[in-house]
Amino acid sequence: MSTAAPQPTAGGPAEARLGAEAAMAQMGMTFSRDNRCFIVAAQVYLMLAGLGLPINGSLLSDSASRPAFLHLFTLGFLLMMIYGIGGHMLPRFTGNPIREGAWPWLQMGLVHAGAASFVAGYFAGWHGLVVAGAILAWLSLAMFAARVWPVLWGSPGGTR
Ligand code: HEM
Repeated sequence: MSTAAPQPTAGGPAEARLGAEAAMAQMGMTFSRDNRCFIVAAQVYLMLAGLGLPINGSLLSDSASRPAFLHLFTLGFLLMMIYGIGGHMLPRFTGNPIREGAWPWLQMGLVHAGAASFVAGYFAGWHGLVVAGAILAWLSLAMFAARVWPVLWGSPGGTR
C-alpha cells in the first residue's frame, strides 16, 4: 500500500485549492499600511461627526449643516471603515489578491478630498464645492469597486 500523499492533477480543483492556500499564506494576517490608514481615518471622521452633538444639540439637526455632519459619519466613518476592513478581509475569504501599489492611496486621496470638499461646501453654502466633492467621492467608490471586482469574481488563488 502506498503512503504517498495524493497528488493534485494539473489544472484541477486540488491545484486551485493549493494555489489559494499559498496565496493566503503569502498575504498573512497583518493589516497593510493602507488599510490601517483607512481605519485610523475612520476614527477621526467619527470624532468629527460627533461634534454635531455639542454644536447642534443633536447628531442630525434640521439646519443646513445636516448633510455635512451626516456625511462625516457615512462617507468619512462608515465608508473608510468598509474600505479598510473590506480591503483586508475580502482577499482572505476568496484567495484572490486585491490591487495594491498606488491604487489604495489614490482611492484614499479621492475619498479624503471628496469628503472634505462635500462637507466644507455644505458648511459654506458653496454648491460648486459640494458637487466637486461628490464627484471625487464617487470616483473613490468606483476605484474601490474596480479593486474589489477581481477579488470577488476572479478564480481562487488566481490559478483558474
Ligand atoms: C459619493 C458619495 C456620496 C454622495 C455624493 C452623497 C450625496 C448626498 C446628497 C447630495 C444628499 C442629499 C443631502 C441634502 O439633503 O441636501 C445625500 C443624502 C444622504 N446620504 Fe449621501 N452621498 C454619498 C455617500 C453616502 C454614503 C456612503 C451613505 C451611507 C453609508 C450616504 C447616506 C445618505 C443618507 C442617509 C442621506 C439622507 C440624509 C437625510 O436624511 O437628510 N451617503 N447624500
